[in-house]
Amino acid sequence: MSYKNALKHSIFEVIGNCADDLKIDAYVIGGFVRDFFLKRGEAKDIDVVAIGSGIKLAEKVASVLETKPEVTIFKNFGTAMLKYQGLELEFVGARKESYTRDSRNPVVENGSLEDDQNRRDFTINALAFGLNKSNFGSLLDSFNGVRDLEEKTIRTPLNPDITYSDDPLRMMRAIRFATQLDFVIEEKSLQAISSNRERIKIISKERIVDELHKILLSKKPSKGFALLNKMGLLQLILPELTALQGIEEIEGQRHKDNFWHTLEVVDNIAETTTNLWLRWAALLHDIGKAPTKKFHKKIGWTFHAHEFVGSKMVYKLFKRLRMPLNDKMKFVQKMVLMSSRPVILSEEHVTDSAVRRLVFDAGDYVDDLMTLCEADITTKNPRKQKKYKNNFKTVREKIVEVEERDKIRNFQPPVTGEEIMQTFGLKPSKEIGIIKDAIKEAILEGEIPNQYAAAHEFMLKKGKSLGLKEKNK
Ligand code: CTP
Repeated sequence: MSYKNALKHSIFEVIGNCADDLKIDAYVIGGFVRDFFLKRGEAKDIDVVAIGSGIKLAEKVASVLETKPEVTIFKNFGTAMLKYQGLELEFVGARKESYTRDSRNPVVENGSLEDDQNRRDFTINALAFGLNKSNFGSLLDSFNGVRDLEEKTIRTPLNPDITYSDDPLRMMRAIRFATQLDFVIEEKSLQAISSNRERIKIISKERIVDELHKILLSKKPSKGFALLNKMGLLQLILPELTALQGIEEIEGQRHKDNFWHTLEVVDNIAETTTNLWLRWAALLHDIGKAPTKKFHKKIGWTFHAHEFVGSKMVYKLFKRLRMPLNDKMKFVQKMVLMSSRPVILSEEHVTDSAVRRLVFDAGDYVDDLMTLCEADITTKNPRKQKKYKNNFKTVREKIVEVEERDKIRNFQPPVTGEEIMQTFGLKPSKEIGIIKDAIKEAILEGEIPNQYAAAHEFMLKKGKSLGLKEKNK
């Protein structure tokens, strides 16, 4: 059977012709072929394997293309990359590889197509289409990758112990693909991952985090985290999460298992947002509960200040995993820190002033915070579920109402410090801060509207109560 329709882009014929000229065989392999069978949309990253020099083939291809794209050569890896019409083409010579035990850098020898397929991670990633004239569009599938795609199975071409030990990142990739594609990892592979788990330590944090991002961005991230947990990898990567596992019971009082609760929250939030960092916030929102857990005879289990402790832990976790310590991290910290605020709010009568304070503290992130809190409802009791949802709906409505009226988001004081100084003929002093704070408090409490005239009048009154005199009176 021919799969020429997968190779409609003119570049494939160009590569095939160049390979014919060089008298070498060339194939498109890996993700492009897999995604064609999965109908995942046309991949932009295209891996080409040459039975010979990938670099020479890339140079030849670039020379015949009208646009003459630049070829980037990675000599140490024997690969070359060129960009053409939005595609990223990577050329590599077929290799027979073995890896040294303490590094991912392989020792490379030339090999056949089968050698090359063999050293790849999964059978579904080892599929290839021929590009030479003689076999253009024919499928080369010595390892039953198509069958595994149909059976939705992640399987390694070689003995899994070798595949995972050679490149331990593949343990994460197996779990990531299983999550993204909703596939099953074959039993032998699971055993190999479990026994090779410690080797994840030789993988750079950046690559691990890349896989975590992809798992988090899947439709049902819990599948990936449950697998990471079962394989013992999560304990090595995110011990803050595994520490949430378990239910303790003292004097008949139990708390919920915050690990499985967290995974439910992450799945919930995945239904309403594709914001990666909000999904991270959902994953980490309860991490402060492990170190703050206490049992008190009278009140039972408490997790006092877990939001604060958790937000501090976010920084350490991001730092350890070499994640960005920028506004993204601050966003996650803020979400964790504020994660209980709307909950407390919705349990009581929702007052305007409490809503104003929430909007003031959360600023532009108030909607994200509400999304997080709604995802946090995991009760199995339908009556409670409905009640909490309704309460949050009320909070959301109140937010809109208060926002329209009081414009508290990104609050700017309606009266500036400068004006306070001029009014009372003051030099910079603590009185200015006191008056500014009092105005802010009066607005948040709803004593005065967030408007200039009212704030000005309030300033005069407050100044007077502090014994200050207006300058021009
Ligand atoms: N590969 C591998 N082992 C790895 C990474 C990649 O064997 N640790 C092989 C696989 O054959 C893979 C190909 O290299 O298909 C390209 O890798 P990459 O671009 O990272 O992944 P894709 O499979 O294209 O998938 P995605 O883009 O979703 O990461």
